Order: sequence, then C-alpha cells, then structure tokens
Amino acid sequence: MKDLFDKIYKDKGPLGKWASHAEGYFVFPKLEGKISNRMKFQGKDVITWSINDYLGLANHPEVRKVDAEAAAEYGSAYPMGARMMSGHTDLHEKLQDELASFVNKEAAYLLNFGYQGMVSTVDALVSKDDIIVYDVDAHACIIDGVRLHMGKRFTYKHNDVESLEKNLERATKMAEQTGGGILVISEGVFGMRGEQGRLKEIVALKKKFNFRLFVDDAHGFGTLGATGAGAGEEQGVQDDIDVYFATFAKSLASTGAFIAADQEIIDYLKYNLRSQMFAKSLQMQLVVGALKRLEMLKTMPELKAKLWENTNALQSGLKDRGFDIGTTQSCVTPVYLKGSIPEAMALVRDLRENYGIFCSIVVYPVIPKGLILLRLIPTATHTLEDVTETLDAFEAIRERLQNGTYKRLSAAVIAAMGE
Ligand SMILES: Cc1ncc(COP(=O)(O)O)c(C=O)c1O
Repeated sequence: MKDLFDKIYKDKGPLGKWASHAEGYFVFPKLEGKISNRMKFQGKDVITWSINDYLGLANHPEVRKVDAEAAAEYGSAYPMGARMMSGHTDLHEKLQDELASFVNKEAAYLLNFGYQGMVSTVDALVSKDDIIVYDVDAHACIIDGVRLHMGKRFTYKHNDVESLEKNLERATKMAEQTGGGILVISEGVFGMRGEQGRLKEIVALKKKFNFRLFVDDAHGFGTLGATGAGAGEEQGVQDDIDVYFATFAKSLASTGAFIAADQEIIDYLKYNLRSQMFAKSLQMQLVVGALKRLEMLKTMPELKAKLWENTNALQSGLKDRGFDIGTTQSCVTPVYLKGSIPEAMALVRDLRENYGIFCSIVVYPVIPKGLILLRLIPTATHTLEDVTETLDAFEAIRERLQNGTYKRLSAAVIAAMGE
C-alpha cells in the first residue's frame, strides 16, 4: 500500500513545482511598508500595482485612527462565540443594516471571510434536487461551494449568455424531473480579466426561465455604480440580483464580507449558514472598522473618482501604446504578453529590479500556455506620475521580450528545470 504522502513527495503540483525558483519573489513575496502606491520589496522602492485597496482606505489616517481606537476598546477577542450563541451585538446589526441599505437590499448578514462565506452561502441556498448553473471561470470560492452540492451542476462558457441559455434549457428540463429549482451564479467583475459579468443579459433570461441569481461582486463593490454599490447598480439590475455578495477585502480594505437579499432569504441564511453558525463571530474591531469605511465610501465620492482617473489613465495609456488589455470593464487591468514561464520570470524580475514596478504575474495553468498576464490594480492612492512611469517601463520590457533578451536570461532557469 502507498504512503498517503508519496504523491506529495513526488509531485508538488503545477505551481508548486516552481517553488524553488519562485518562492519569496514571484509567489509569497514580502511587500513591506505602509499599504500604498509605493512600498518596499526586498529593500527597494516599488510602485505597487498588486493590492486591491481600490479606494486607498487601507492606510487612510481616519481609518487607522478608528481601527486603533476599536482595537484599544474591544481587543481582538470580543465578541466570543458564534453569532447565534454569544457573538451577536448591536454593532453587528447596525453594520448589516447599513450595508443592506447601501446595496439596496432589505437585509444583509455578515460573513467572517468572503471565501468561506461564499462556499457556505452556495451550500445553504441549494438542496439536492436543485441545479446550479455557473460561469466556468468562477472564483475558487464559488467552485468550492458548488463542490458541496449533492445535486446537478452545469457550467456555462465564460460570460457567454448563449451558453448560459442552453444550460438553462438543460437545467430546466432536469429541474422539472427532480422537482427542484435553479441557482445561477456569476461574478459582478471577474477579478483576473476585469470583465463585468453580463448581469443585464443574465437578468433578462429571467423572463424565459425560472431561476435565482447569486452574484459575487468582490471587485465591483465600491468601484462600480453611481454610488459604488457595485456591478448591479452599474448595469441597472441590482433589484434583480436575488443574493448579492461582497467582501471587505478589497474596496473596504479589511477582513470580512456580507451577503444581502430580501429579508426572508437573509432570515433563512442566518439560521442555515454553517460557516457562521459554527464559527466565531466577526471581531468587533473589524465591525467598527467596516462601519467607518462604509461611511467614507458613501460620503467621499472623490476616492472613487480618483480611482477611476488613475484607471482611465492607465488603461488608455496602455492601449495607446499598443498593449493588449483584453476586455476589461473595471479597474482590474490585465496586460497580455506572449512568452514562456521562464521568460515571464525574467521579465518580472527586470520590472521589479530595474524599473521599480511591482505587479502580479499570472501564467499557465491559470491562463493558457504561452501567455503571460501581468495584472495591475490601480487604486486611489496612485498618482498620474506612477501611471506614466509604469507605462514607460512596460514599453521597455515589451521591447526586451520581443528582442529575445528574456529568452536568453531565462535559459539558465530552463536548464535548471530540465525542460
Ligand atoms: C471574486 C472573489 N470572491 C471572493 C473572494 C474571497 O474573499 P475574502 O478574501 O474575503 O475571503 C475573493 C478574494 O478576495 C474574490 O476575488
């Protein structure tokens, strides 16, 4: 019989196999200093384009003050226990009410983390006779939620409404047999490529099919819509989203998340969300911090305006200089280049060491082989000088990619990997 760990000793997985070349630099890098447009990486100043602090709240003095005061008043333990047992407070309720009203829903419920909250919400919304139809490029937390489902599930092609319609036809037939209902899941903004979920068209399918829509708007909340209420507001379909989800980990620059829906749905979820029923309540300093951040989101539209000024400058600058930024419709700014993984490593090293630009790099198997995706997240803390400096650097590295510099530099890496 095999030792359970045999496979781990032999195969580190598609990303893990790069660990000896990548760890500490490309993956698990240590960014130091206060969260802002400029931080330190391995002792060097870098412009940071890899942090989802869209509105620049992470290190805003008012936020830091409230966080510090809340930490002093409550410590990190209070309240103890799950919400249902002993971890419930007026401020948890107040935050829920304010979040619900901000995203234009009757009620909201707090989640300790977006990821496990999302898994748990999918789990709670369906039973074995129900059918889930979800975007094939859905975030891992949606996929993990779907994995818990005992009934049927179908993916539809990424953001492809025709494919969704076909799958809804299949799902409808099946639901008629099982006696269940249908849950459609999309993201408000797809965080890797930046496209908005085609919520308007998805909602239009409600005229033809009977389903409920669950939207993960992690990247849309705070960045899209006239008030910042997200992709549903932006597309004018917030009322038709049956369950709305957003995390505090991006625009609100904190930890925690929430779902919002009709009162009766939230009342149900409150009693059936296993991740909240059997886990400690969101700690008070995070609740107080989220109240402050939400107030700022509502009362300081200049933060979102600056975010979009930077986003527009970055995206139009990249396009003007001939870069392929795909089909983004949000602040998420992907830059697609062609090259191997070792070339991508040489390129990113050059960007960081010689140009002081720190952005995330995404390669196969997350995206197709032969493509390099550099992902930039503009924030309200960036300046137009940061944008210009970055555009110039990108032009320089593209030139070096095309003239084979990175191929030569990466030869050593390839030899070491035996590929
Ligand atoms: C689309 C999406 N959903 C959910 C999550 C998980 O949220 P959290 O970081 O609060 O666990 C993330 C990442 O933060 C995300 O990008």
